[in-house]
Amino acid sequence: MKVQNELGDKIATVFRVLGISQYSLLRQQTYLATHPCYGSCVVKFAFTLTTKQQLNTEAVFLHNHNELCWPKYIDYGSTMGMDWLIIEFFDTLCVSMRNFNIVERQKVTKSAEQALHTLHRKGYIHGDIKPSNLIVTLYHEVRLIDLGSIVPIESDYKFCTPSSLTPKFCALNPYLRVGYASPQHDFFSLAVSLQTMWKAHPFGDLSLLDFAKTNGKPEIDDLFSRYQILISKQIKHAKLSTYPHL
Ligand SMILES: Nc1ncnc2c1ncn2[C@@H]1O[C@H](COP(=O)(O)OP(=O)(O)O)[C@@H](O)[C@H]1O
Ligand SMILES: [Mg+2]
Repeated sequence: MKVQNELGDKIATVFRVLGISQYSLLRQQTYLATHPCYGSCVVKFAFTLTTKQQLNTEAVFLHNHNELCWPKYIDYGSTMGMDWLIIEFFDTLCVSMRNFNIVERQKVTKSAEQALHTLHRKGYIHGDIKPSNLIVTLYHEVRLIDLGSIVPIESDYKFCTPSSLTPKFCALNPYLRVGYASPQHDFFSLAVSLQTMWKAHPFGDLSLLDFAKTNGKPEIDDLFSRYQILISKQIKHAKLSTYPHL
């Protein structure tokens, strides 16, 4: 509790130093703030070595690559041992996506694919695609956020610094840390995310590997067929890695 209070005091001081008086917590160390020069923006803080490294990766990437499909870089620095990154804020849809009709689902899917293609053309995969890292705007367009886990395409997972990955949205190779980083790994995570957004997690909140061991049938009926195929192939792959004699 004391640590939390100290952290809160430190964050309040950093905001004062940055000249920001209005802010509210979005999640953990991420705040929505009103910047005196830039208006609404998001301020992300990091205070451990790992989160600082991730924040640095995100800051460098956003600084070097300005695209509509992820937040614009505003500022990055360190105050009293706390690293901070200020980026563009995207207004999101607050309604449940469960009620989206087919046209809206198509629009969201296409927009997410375009955003991923843009990122992949820069030579990186996102590495942590999941519903909370996909912002759906008021116009049903998708923006990618949380770019601190990017991995250069073709990197050998064995030699990558372990980044934050989320087991229940993660493809097999990055989960097992074998093979090479491929755009397909982001598309698999997108498929699992979309099914979760439309209805429910396809593997009942299990990781792909744990689900493959259950021999259950995934809930993928709400997905377009190409994503159903992608998920089915990954389950087969996961079963083969668990039971190689099959
Ligand atoms: N640029 C942004 N626009 C709108 N909301 C954002 C933005 N960046 C982050 N958020 C919100 O804050 C949450 C946490 O931010 P994120 O960058 O994903 O950090 P982390 O998951 O590492 O805590 C997101 O899930 C999202 O709800
Ligand atoms: Mg996130």
